[in-house]
Amino acid sequence: MSEDASAAPGPRLPYRAADVQAGGALDALAVERTFGNGDLVRVFDALGIAGPFRRLSPWELEDPRGRHLVHAGGYAALPFGEGPPALVAAARTYLETFATPAFAQQAASEARAALAANLVALLAHEAPRHTDDRVLFSNSGAEAIEIALKLLRASKPDAPWILTFDGGYHGKTMGALSITPTEEYQAAFRPLLPGIRSLPYGDLDAVERELLVLGADQVAGIVVEPVQGEGGVVTPPEGFLPGLRSLGERYGVAIVADEIQTGLGRTGHWFASVAGGLDPDVVTLAKPLSGGLVPIGATIARPEMMEAMLPGFSSRRHSSTFAGNALAMHVGLAALETLVDGRYDLRAREAGARGRARLDALAERRPGLLREVRSSGMLFALVLHDPVAPGLLGNRPALARLLASGLGVRSLHRQGVHAIVSLAASGVVRLTPALDMPDELQATLWDRVDAFGAAFPQAWRLAASAGPARLARLASIATRGGPHEGRPAPPSQM
Ligand SMILES: Cc1ncc(COP(=O)(O)O)c(C=O)c1O
Repeated sequence: MSEDASAAPGPRLPYRAADVQAGGALDALAVERTFGNGDLVRVFDALGIAGPFRRLSPWELEDPRGRHLVHAGGYAALPFGEGPPALVAAARTYLETFATPAFAQQAASEARAALAANLVALLAHEAPRHTDDRVLFSNSGAEAIEIALKLLRASKPDAPWILTFDGGYHGKTMGALSITPTEEYQAAFRPLLPGIRSLPYGDLDAVERELLVLGADQVAGIVVEPVQGEGGVVTPPEGFLPGLRSLGERYGVAIVADEIQTGLGRTGHWFASVAGGLDPDVVTLAKPLSGGLVPIGATIARPEMMEAMLPGFSSRRHSSTFAGNALAMHVGLAALETLVDGRYDLRAREAGARGRARLDALAERRPGLLREVRSSGMLFALVLHDPVAPGLLGNRPALARLLASGLGVRSLHRQGVHAIVSLAASGVVRLTPALDMPDELQATLWDRVDAFGAAFPQAWRLAASAGPARLARLASIATRGGPHEGRPAPPSQM
């Protein structure tokens, strides 16, 4: 370093870590609009749901205007709400002792070994052939899917095709995006992974036809959600999952069950795929696996597939710096133990049935607001009517549907419910409350959803309550689609 350079003042960071921890150090909304994903924040702001929120308890939030919200968001990643004490304690114990290194890339790790063994034991308890499965950890759901795709490719190297389903959601990294057939997400990023075919969800005949057309020896695998979560809580027809299992066995095609949203209790079962009659070769997990406290992903697979992917010195073919880190593994161990010891599968089933009964009654009372309600355990979806005629939005029905979800979330927020939209379905508002939400708070949640129905008995009232200025703001952001919007998909991605 030259003398001049050392004398020059170093960079000055605009915000101090301690000030940000203390809160109130900055106008988060304004700074995010400038330095983050600005348009996304603008949409949330226009809807009046941008926060930032304060956590009152694991199941309750407060918005900047002091409004109390029952937390039914979290995208199914929060089985015990925000900052559950048992998991915070597990994290704290590790961080305070730091008895093992954070990253054991070049060594064995007790925590990683134990979590892998526990996951295999849980899966084998439900489906006994899995006692000798193997586990690879990652840092997100999408990464768990990337590993699943690599397993399929490596296990059947001469088979170029992978089948996926319309309405499915598997994440937004390039591989996961390639099997997430939503035009809005894919268009700007083509060319994607080659060799992907998407079929109608629930249509066994279509799957068999495709296997025959492509040749089963040309198909490396099928990736399926046992219930489409981001697709709007869509349960496949009876017989679809067992039928898929039979097709997989008959034609020698591996099946990946994406349980990132459905797994570990949320739908009332540890593994919705197994409960539905599928015995998958690969299972992906993420969201609730560490109670939503630290990032984590896991891919469980048959040993022969793991060996095909990572044999001998080629076992270095897949790695990721943070995968299997000690903090995530310790929190994962505590989360899994809490879920299993507390029988949260059964609790989700019971609480889910109570919530569904409340939503069914609401749908009956408010046919002008709700087209349909759907659920699977503690995953709930309210399918809304369009709040404005598509003609008002330049004949863009997709925009009217999108507006329905946004205005639905906004209106629920105004009644004191923190809800979420679906990432692969428009016109749908979802509720994914914590599995351990106290009964009184669950009752409050459903009372507030009823109040939402009473305040907006018809869908057009959602738009009317937003006002023309807000709608115009939303429309102006929505039409900043960019050059890729509507670009036709190539006839085949091969
Ligand atoms: C079924 C499913 N798979 C994959 C993903 C992607 O997970 P992540 O957002 O952690 O990348 C999600 C996320 O919603 C999901 O629901």
